Amino acid sequence: MNRMAQPNLWPVLHTVDTASAYKAGLSIRDVSLTYGTSRGPLRALDNLSLDVKPGEFVAVLGPSGCGKSTLLKLVSGLLSATEGEIHLKGRPVKSPRSDVGIVFQQATLLPWKTVLNNVLVPVRAMGLPVKNYRDKALDLLKLVGLEAFANHYPSELSGGMQQRVAVARGLIHDPALLLMDEPFAALDAMTREHMMIELQRIWASTHKSVLFITHSIQEAVFLADRVLIMGGRPGRVVDELVVPLERPRTVETMARKDFNDLLGHLRHVFGEKSTC
Ligand SMILES: Nc1ncnc2c1ncn2[C@@H]1O[C@H](COP(=O)(O)OP(=O)(O)OP(=O)(O)O)[C@@H](O)[C@H]1O
Ligand SMILES: [Mg+2]
Repeated sequence: MNRMAQPNLWPVLHTVDTASAYKAGLSIRDVSLTYGTSRGPLRALDNLSLDVKPGEFVAVLGPSGCGKSTLLKLVSGLLSATEGEIHLKGRPVKSPRSDVGIVFQQATLLPWKTVLNNVLVPVRAMGLPVKNYRDKALDLLKLVGLEAFANHYPSELSGGMQQRVAVARGLIHDPALLLMDEPFAALDAMTREHMMIELQRIWASTHKSVLFITHSIQEAVFLADRVLIMGGRPGRVVDELVVPLERPRTVETMARKDFNDLLGHLRHVFGEKSTC
């Protein structure tokens, strides 16, 4: 993978320490995935490699159909790679693991359960003692600004509120790695902006590693320490940008020239290298 040529005003602040990512973070090495379909094999990912260091926020930007959701399913252990290896904290990922949390594009809350009980769903699914996690769930609801809604039902919440419940649910079992698959794609622009700021705050206070899939260049640059760009199917990482913007990033950051220069730069690279 070639590091994207960056103008001098965007110095590379840090580079990936592959050895430490392998031991403590997420390491994906030469992973390929071929689906069997009625029309024959479909190669969705081809020799994809990436690392996420402990506590790092990595965004993956790619066109529709390039294999982003497939990548997340592999990392979550829901699918097995045709070739290659995935390690989290030095252990191979072979099936769903309790040290991974997932937030999907839709909140997918259970309508008959209260907000609190929705946050506790992974705890029940893992067979952990629910009573030990109630306080943690309430703390997480506070973290996402929904402590007053613990006993409400999903239908009583807005789309953004439901997605915040989904973020709390993804964190309830204290996973080392949070996987997010276009979690804000279904939200309107204002709510999305608010959610970006909220997610940055939550990430800063929980110190999780995050692998964040998005179509949005703005979302990627605002949130990530590094942005990886995927090429068209079969997907692989074709380029990388280290985002040198200080944190916390705010609404004002989005209006700044350096932020918008980064967007323009990524738009250019995305257009050149990422067609399906
Ligand atoms: N279960 C499956 N069986 C067969 N092919 C699949 C399956 N899931 C995905 N694909 C194919 O694999 C490719 C990658 O799909 P994937 O859902 O990973 O893309 P994506 O990058 O997440 O797209 P989007 O941005 O639209 O969500 C697509 O060509 C898709 O048709
Ligand atoms: Mg997808």
